[in-house]
Amino acid sequence: MPEDQLPQKLNDFWSEKYKRESQKSWDKFYKRNETRFFKDRHWLNREFDSYFGIPENEPRTILEVGCGVGNLVYPLLECQPNLKVYCCDFSSRAVEFVQKNENYDAEHVFPFVCDIVETPLVNFVPNASVDTVTAIFVLSAIPYERQLQAFKNISSVLKPGGHLVFRDYCEGDYAKEKFLNSKEPSMIDEHTFVRQDGTISYFFDEKRVDELASDVGLENISLERVQRSVDNRKRELSMQRVFLQGVWRKKY
Ligand SMILES: C[S@@+](CC[C@H](N)C(=O)[O-])C[C@H]1O[C@@H](n2cnc3c(N)ncnc32)[C@H](O)[C@@H]1O
Repeated sequence: MPEDQLPQKLNDFWSEKYKRESQKSWDKFYKRNETRFFKDRHWLNREFDSYFGIPENEPRTILEVGCGVGNLVYPLLECQPNLKVYCCDFSSRAVEFVQKNENYDAEHVFPFVCDIVETPLVNFVPNASVDTVTAIFVLSAIPYERQLQAFKNISSVLKPGGHLVFRDYCEGDYAKEKFLNSKEPSMIDEHTFVRQDGTISYFFDEKRVDELASDVGLENISLERVQRSVDNRKRELSMQRVFLQGVWRKKY
């Protein structure tokens, strides 16, 4: 069946509305869930140690884009207390939660509100000053046609030789199957879906993400699919989660 006749396909009016109102939807998400939704991301330091591990006298500068309430920022600082961590989100409510965290320390954490598609990151972070940008489940929240702008923005604050660390939704993930099997209209295009709360989820593949990165002067270091099975005993369901994880280095 052609894509525009699928029962899941949203019409142009709704597709555009969801894309336009993305910031509002995420802000409502944090109003509803506060800090309860995402778990702390302790795996990041474990898996990407070399991009954060620092000698005592040479503190590194990190920027976490789409930081939410700080589920990555604070576990990272716990392992690497000397880091200087800039972090931003376009939900002002999320950024307030970062500031209210009991571990907030104004000498190490620099939160700010910024839409990484609309506003230059260099308004908040010195040009080419960041060692590592982390983008964890944020670029999938950005519609296809705006993703390149977000990558350009990220690249502008990276030092030459600095790294982008990425993890996000991937083609083949159970979440996409669920959208496709639902009778509810939720599809913007074959890779992009809208959740019930109005937030957007794009499913990447290796080609797409690497094209975006190389278009903004980043060269690939590693890129792999991370797969795991999640069992829901109550519903007797086994879900195959698939994420895409990679690292790129800024060339010049
Ligand atoms: C799934 S959450 C991930 C939060 C955090 N990175 C983590 O790993 O826990 C995605 C976050 O990206 C933010 N976001 C989405 N689009 C954005 C944009 N264009 N600019 C800045 N933040 C954005 C949302 O508000 C949300 O907090």
